Amino acid sequence: MNWPYPRMIAHRGAGTLAPENTLAAIRLGASFGYTMFEFDVKLAGDGVLVLMHDATLERTTDGTGRVAGHAFGELARLDAGSWHSPAYAGESIPTLERVARWLLRNGLMANIEIKPCPGREAETGAAAALEARRLWRGALALPILSSFSQEALEATRRVAPELPRALLFGELPEDWAQRCLALGCAALAAREAGLTDPVIAAAHRAGLRVIGYTVNDPARAAALFGWGLDALVTDAVDRIAP
Ligand code: G3P
Ligand code: MG
Repeated sequence: MNWPYPRMIAHRGAGTLAPENTLAAIRLGASFGYTMFEFDVKLAGDGVLVLMHDATLERTTDGTGRVAGHAFGELARLDAGSWHSPAYAGESIPTLERVARWLLRNGLMANIEIKPCPGREAETGAAAALEARRLWRGALALPILSSFSQEALEATRRVAPELPRALLFGELPEDWAQRCLALGCAALAAREAGLTDPVIAAAHRAGLRVIGYTVNDPARAAALFGWGLDALVTDAVDRIAP
């Protein structure tokens, strides 16, 4: 399939240099020359898609409770930057729409990781895919939709089969290739520790691209690319050139 994506993808916007999953982080990643951004997306209580890694608010905002327990209007008032550092005080939780529009305006690409709250897998997958189709209509590079949830990815395929999919794995199971192929994935997205020369070669033989995460060591990145890795997700936007 068409694979217009760069080899380097910034994790959660700019890794750990700025508050994850915010527009400030993506801007910072872009200032280092990164052109593609991984971020985590889930549903707010009222069905708005927002960038947030955790199912709960405590770690990365000044709010409390479940993301799914709040309408977006409430989430939008939270401070999603102060937990990181004072310089980012007042940074807000962005919607997928706001981030998509900013990326498209700047000619940048997206890897939308669908991170459903428990029990909302199919609903989140379908909503994210329909929103991605709407927002990226006519774009040169479609966003890659990835998820650890097979159910969420299956839902994306049902509603927007044209969007490229990548199944995420922590530990690679024996049947990783069958699982990726059963979902019609364009890529395997695997934790970097599980990636070896033979795994990458087997994925390519199966017609899959390979994305590794989270690779922060330049020497390890070079070794993986030497084995043919297609792209990696990194926090080290300041240490590994895009
Ligand atoms: O998409 C790769 C990576 O983001 C998966 O781990 O926990 O950072 O979302 P996590
Ligand atoms: Mg992620």
